[in-house]
Amino acid sequence: MAGESETVTLLGTGPAETAQAAGKAAGPVPGAPLPTHVAIIMDGNGRWAARRGLPRVEGHRRGVEAVRRTVRAAIDLGIPYLTVYGFSSENWRRPPAEVADLMGLLKLFVRRDLAELHANGVRVRIIGEREGLAPDIAALLREAEERTAHNTRLTLVVAFNYGGRQEILRAVRTLAAAVADGRLGPDAIGVEAFSAALDTDGIPDPDLVIRTSGEQRVSNFLTWQTAYAEFVFIPDFWPDFDHATFAAAIGEYQSRERRFGGLSARAG
Ligand code: IPE
Ligand code: IPE
Ligand code: MG
Repeated sequence: MAGESETVTLLGTGPAETAQAAGKAAGPVPGAPLPTHVAIIMDGNGRWAARRGLPRVEGHRRGVEAVRRTVRAAIDLGIPYLTVYGFSSENWRRPPAEVADLMGLLKLFVRRDLAELHANGVRVRIIGEREGLAPDIAALLREAEERTAHNTRLTLVVAFNYGGRQEILRAVRTLAAAVADGRLGPDAIGVEAFSAALDTDGIPDPDLVIRTSGEQRVSNFLTWQTAYAEFVFIPDFWPDFDHATFAAAIGEYQSRERRFGGLSARAG
């Protein structure tokens, strides 16, 4: 038995180490389960630009290109759910000019890319607070969701004006109102009912969360949903994220053993 576990461990880490030693990024391990849902905290646009003496907005523009690449990579790798953190509830604290740049880029992205996303079978879902958004942005987000609602190849979840705590509070208010007017008993509020009251209703919890730029924090992202997610932190700035980096993060995910509070399947 002990010998068998050792073999499994070696098989799990061996190919990745060999690829790294050869100077190549390790990719997905054939036969190992892929994550169903990958969620990405796209960080480091500003620093990418600053390193080059460019304005921050140039980093955000290149960040949008990285989103396009990542959507294609997700389809290519066979990942069914991809979430990208586009704008947090706290990002309103940035200078108004940068907020305006980010809003402008979102509009541009939807206008330019929606047809292609739709043609490629991508279903778009938006999570986050809609109230308080500019009417033209709210309308574009609605259009993106409605037009692509029946696509099945990849679900692209865009977290926009999103905060995990704010989302939880909105869900609590919805459920509290249902209890207050007698539609729901307090005991009916379990994990399933609560999940269904969140913006991510119907979307499986993320298996893998990737954050770029070297920061190792969650910044109010998918607070409820990441209870058992695996985290991979990547030193590259978001505009440099590509297929190889994505594939390497998936390889890293596949080398992990998820236990969900149970015992190791590898324990002898
Ligand atoms: C991520 O890049 C994009 C958003 C948060 C909207 P940043 O703008 O946070 O870039 P850094 O972290 O300042 O480098
Ligand atoms: C998180 O990045 C939000 C998005 C990627 C949209 P931030 O750059 O806003 O996070 P902090 O401020 O460094 O925690
Ligand atoms: Mg940042």
